[in-house]
Amino acid sequence: MVKADKFVHESIEKIKKEVKGRAIIALSGGVDSSVCAVLAHRAIGELLTPVYIDTGLMRKGETERIKKVFADMNLEVIDGKERFLNSLRGLIDPEKKRKAVGEAFIREFEREARMIGAKYLIQGTIYPDRIESEGGIKSHHNVGGLPSVMDFEKIVEPLAELYKDEVREVARALGLPRGISDRMPFPGPGLSVRIIGEVTEDKLDVVREANAIVEEELVEQFAPWQTFAALLEKGTGVKGDVRVHGWIIAVRAVQSRDGMTAEAMELPWEVLKKIESRITSEIPNVSRVLYDLTPKPPGTIEFE
Ligand code: XMP
Repeated sequence: MVKADKFVHESIEKIKKEVKGRAIIALSGGVDSSVCAVLAHRAIGELLTPVYIDTGLMRKGETERIKKVFADMNLEVIDGKERFLNSLRGLIDPEKKRKAVGEAFIREFEREARMIGAKYLIQGTIYPDRIESEGGIKSHHNVGGLPSVMDFEKIVEPLAELYKDEVREVARALGLPRGISDRMPFPGPGLSVRIIGEVTEDKLDVVREANAIVEEELVEQFAPWQTFAALLEKGTGVKGDVRVHGWIIAVRAVQSRDGMTAEAMELPWEVLKKIESRITSEIPNVSRVLYDLTPKPPGTIEFE
């Protein structure tokens, strides 16, 4: 286990030594990239440009939240919604979707890095990201994409040896708000891996609302390691007196140490019922809600 304060001190010194010019970091609002951004900002100050790309695949209210939390850094917010949606059009295969999102990120990044003249890329890659990508389980896009293609003098990955719980400790040592230090992981490809098959704006609207409801009902009260909603397919239902062909939403809540293995949580029935009732009543075109019992393995945490 890292001694968080020592880690903070040492990694700031290391970044100072390694980074000798303008640097860019992709902020996703998750704990990894936030910790990285704060470390890098303390090390190199105004030489750092944190960039947040609004991919349209983010959680509800995310862009506003990020702007607020990082108000004291010269944060660049890029609206990439249309470009990400275009790059995902027609794709069904999960790995192709991941690659498309990864490549769309690269293009956004290249443009921005060129504009500010950044020679250094700082990334919040953590140890399990590397293991899972190298092991060929899934190509985590922050590992499989950026470094090899882009023309940076150096890629700096201050968290590359840390597990998630260690990153959280560092976040607390840095004095980041609990909303960030204790935040659940969220995948780089965002809500695109929580939609089975093709990603469309309609499906994104549904799954974003469903995720917000699940988070509201479970995060505070049950402190899951991760919880979310995924949009599966369409199924027949009845709303009022009318037959509907509506979306099927799966709810997932897991406990885990580091995301490598996971157990589905045993949630009280009335809580599950409330989630079902909120999702089917608040989101018009949802006809069915399921709860996923599968541990990892054999399932993964995300649906794609
Ligand atoms: P899986 O679904 O592989 O997820 O059991 C393990 C953990 O990793 C997150 N995850 C990702 N994170 N890029 C990321 O940055 C990705 O492509 C990606 N895929 C999954 C997932 O949310 C879980 O916390």
